[in-house]
Amino acid sequence: MNPYLKELARIVRHPVQRLLLRGVYNRIRDIEYREFNRRYYGIEQVAEYLVGAQIEGDYCEFGVWQGTTFAHAWRTMGTLFPAMRFVAYDSFEGLPEPAGIDARDGYTSHFYRAQFACSHADFIRNMRRARVDPARLKTVQGWFSDTLRGPAGATHGVDRIAVAWVDCDLYESTVPVLDYLTPRITEGSVVAFDDWRCYRNLPDHGQQRAVGEWLARNPGLQLRELLSFGWNGVVFTVAGVPPGGS
Ligand SMILES: C[S@@+](CC[C@H](N)C(=O)[O-])C[C@H]1O[C@@H](n2cnc3c(N)ncnc32)[C@H](O)[C@@H]1O
Repeated sequence: MNPYLKELARIVRHPVQRLLLRGVYNRIRDIEYREFNRRYYGIEQVAEYLVGAQIEGDYCEFGVWQGTTFAHAWRTMGTLFPAMRFVAYDSFEGLPEPAGIDARDGYTSHFYRAQFACSHADFIRNMRRARVDPARLKTVQGWFSDTLRGPAGATHGVDRIAVAWVDCDLYESTVPVLDYLTPRITEGSVVAFDDWRCYRNLPDHGQQRAVGEWLARNPGLQLRELLSFGWNGVVFTVAGVPPGGS
């Protein structure tokens, strides 16, 4: 093609492409907003609660996927709490195979192996785009049964948690998270469960079962409901810690 025409085509193409893509971009944003606005609401309410509660500690999200909620936590709390670190725990391989209680009678609440897979590199790229301060960001990569259990040294430098956002869908994934939380939460800390009402809202399945067992294992530990977000999520605050706890 004539180089002048080619240059003209390049100039025209860009604004046209931008106009065309703007529709697609807006549509994606709408879908994302519809899917995540209830979580954004939960995060914003938690931030408001924390201001009055004066709880020190980190924001820890167990199950981060692409980091959409995590980035909103940063946007909402990063400036309000300058000492808060943002810790992302994930396999970065998606869900493990639902098994045992999580697949009783073949029912898995629509969860399946490798669902929500997002690589560590892609997560970090998303955080860069969301302008999360790398000095306040930490990732803990691996299966919770490996990274949160085992030697007492596996603290990952976290000893006080202000907000635990537990979004790992399955009973088996939630159990090690809760044991990790026990010595790190304090009276007033927030513990939020994104999947509280998954598994047909049954108390002997999923996160409800894991929490029931956690409370039974730790006399003195008490939770009080603070708010719900969407049909699925429930946020609690810690109303009592086991004797000798934080
Ligand atoms: C629903 S996604 C999290 C969504 C994210 N919190 C958000 O709002 O954008 C669930 C995540 O939990 C992680 N996950 C579930 N079970 C896990 C386990 N046992 N160990 C490590 N990661 C796990 C998955 O890799 C996945 O990224």
